[in-house]
Amino acid sequence: MRIAAISDLHIDINRDYPVLESLRDEVERSGASYLIVAGDISEDFRIVKDKMRALEDSSSFSVLYVPGNHDLWSPEPSKFKIDYIYSSFKDDERCLSGKSVTLDGVTFIGDVGWYDYSFGNHERFSDEMFEKMTYSGRTWQDALKNPWTRDNRRKCQAQLESLEEKLEKEKGKKIITVTHMLPIRDFTVLDARPEWEYFNAFLGSSRFGELFEKHGVSLSISGHVHYRKEVERNGVSYICPCLGYYSEWSFAKGHERDLAYHLRSSLRCFEI
Ligand SMILES: [Fe+2]
Ligand SMILES: [Fe+2]
Repeated sequence: MRIAAISDLHIDINRDYPVLESLRDEVERSGASYLIVAGDISEDFRIVKDKMRALEDSSSFSVLYVPGNHDLWSPEPSKFKIDYIYSSFKDDERCLSGKSVTLDGVTFIGDVGWYDYSFGNHERFSDEMFEKMTYSGRTWQDALKNPWTRDNRRKCQAQLESLEEKLEKEKGKKIITVTHMLPIRDFTVLDARPEWEYFNAFLGSSRFGELFEKHGVSLSISGHVHYRKEVERNGVSYICPCLGYYSEWSFAKGHERDLAYHLRSSLRCFEI
């Protein structure tokens, strides 16, 4: 079976670009039977669900996704609380949160994941500083938009336990995990900008990678960081196939406004 994977479509931020139409064409060309989207699709959960259904309905491939942190932000905070939004994702047949799905002999297990500050630089910053989620005048937006951030470590632990339970149950099968948050430090921002020694804390947890390696996961798909990377480690292929914001495409000189180029650069296809 051929699968295609991508993440961080951000269709509202990238609203001037026909992201989903072009993605559909690229996936059709690839011959993949399944498209996996590792979160950060839209900042309105209703749009995420509608668009993923419409993408599947208008194509020859099936769609599976996990929500990202942006997808969990409430479009109307007085009306839609985080518990409602997260349950609504779990109820969506295309969303992997809270379930494992076996298709053509491959089991997909996934969820948003979360962060526990383990990727931050603990020599420079204390736990109390990470808990503020604000550094150098910048606040990590989840702190303002998601009540889970009142206890990030507990939320991360709950996500780990839920994923582990499913990995135990599916032992011995060929498993692909999908988490929005990063499972390995290799995918964090490793450049010299000091603010990332702080903000890396909100990108994921190395405990996800340890869990995947312990359970013999074949492929781990993640997103969130907007840098495209791939790493092989201890038997697991890790990929981070992010499309990212149009404003970040400027690093590719000559392709600053070239959606097709960035879709081809981020979309990864696998024969499983
Ligand atoms: Fe993102
Ligand atoms: Fe994200």
